[in-house]
Amino acid sequence: MDIIRSTPKRPFHQSVRVPGDKSISHRGVMFGAIAQGTTRVEGFLPGADCLSTIACFRRLGVEIERETPTTVLIKGKGWEGLREPAQWLDVGNSGTTIRLMLGILAGRPFFSAVAGDDSIARRPMGRVVQPLREMGAFIDGREGGSFTPLAVRGGHLKGIEHVSRVASAQVKSCLLLAGLQAEGTTVVREPAVSRDHTERMLQAFGVDLEAEPGRVAVKGGQSLTGQYVRVPGDVSSAAFIWSAALMVPGSRVKVRDVGLNPTRTGILDVFRMMGAEVLVEPKGKWCGEPVGDVTVSADGLRAVEVGGDLIPRLIDEIPVLAVVATQAEGTTIIKDAAELKVKETNRIATTTTELRKLGAQVEETDDGLIIYGPTRLKGGVCDSHGDHRIGMAMAIAGLAASDEVTVRNATAIDVSFPGFAELLEQLGA
Ligand code: S3P
Repeated sequence: MDIIRSTPKRPFHQSVRVPGDKSISHRGVMFGAIAQGTTRVEGFLPGADCLSTIACFRRLGVEIERETPTTVLIKGKGWEGLREPAQWLDVGNSGTTIRLMLGILAGRPFFSAVAGDDSIARRPMGRVVQPLREMGAFIDGREGGSFTPLAVRGGHLKGIEHVSRVASAQVKSCLLLAGLQAEGTTVVREPAVSRDHTERMLQAFGVDLEAEPGRVAVKGGQSLTGQYVRVPGDVSSAAFIWSAALMVPGSRVKVRDVGLNPTRTGILDVFRMMGAEVLVEPKGKWCGEPVGDVTVSADGLRAVEVGGDLIPRLIDEIPVLAVVATQAEGTTIIKDAAELKVKETNRIATTTTELRKLGAQVEETDDGLIIYGPTRLKGGVCDSHGDHRIGMAMAIAGLAASDEVTVRNATAIDVSFPGFAELLEQLGA
């Protein structure tokens, strides 16, 4: 069914798990594919995006077995194990698949063609194509290589020092993967710290790299060794569940075994700033990634101002943060978040359009959103615009609306959170 109906809820007290982390699942498959020996990924996210990664690497000649929906075995044969694909590589809706894979393809001595869906065709690829060309790869594509479809002929690469204009883990990871195949050292600098799963996982796979806030350096000519990867729950998916508790006063929800990488937990800091109670119970590290249980509840929320270095630490959570802000006392300002315009949709525009349908007072700015609260939301018909996080954010809005909220094009949610509607039902929605 392509719609979700979300209705106002009574307070709930629950303890749940969410599906595996999307960023870590992608990397487990990709790094396993270029490693020597078998990699076992447990807790893999069987969402559409990560399945696109598996399909692409199968086309590149890698044997990948799905023992269960969430257990994947990747039989890596090292960099040399990748083969020229007979078909184009379809990344579907996945920005992480295309940008990270381009870093791998840039150094392989063969031709490949890469494209995805309509949303991918609108997303900027120049941010990775231009530095990869500087390293020596031959890449062409629409509008001079700024957009898909892209054609890649991998070449002999030379290390570069790249200063990225944006704090983007996809750009950083792409260049580190190319750098591993290059002559000399590759250095990537970024204006604020983006998620560092690549750095952590490459080290777990035996790569030697230098990482400090805002700068990562890697020497070329390194190989990876297959590993066991246990994937924590996705903090970005958990954010929807915690938000559900914040939308229904008197609720409390614990999410177990969720990833607590500090480059991803900005949303928990913001919930605290809004006056929510956030209880973190650490449980140790899985493949270099901190994991724990997190319980969230609130008794009244206040507005916040969010910007600067905090933005990359919660970039994917901004649509649902805007939803929660409709229930907070005062004016919430989200700024320095222009990157939202080049996500699966222009999330500044789609969040504003959809929230307004429910009577929220939201203003779109050049680099963010202004939300006036608290507002009693009304029921209505919303659309995901094919963007998983917009679809889920609107379903969460429905929990505090005076009437039913219908979300159209809800299958997009499967990109990152298969079972989302069922989990909401389990919470009593
Ligand atoms: C991701 C990085 C972020 C994030 C995306 C996943 C990753 O994108 O929005 O959902 O796995 O590296 P950018 O690197 O473009 O900011």
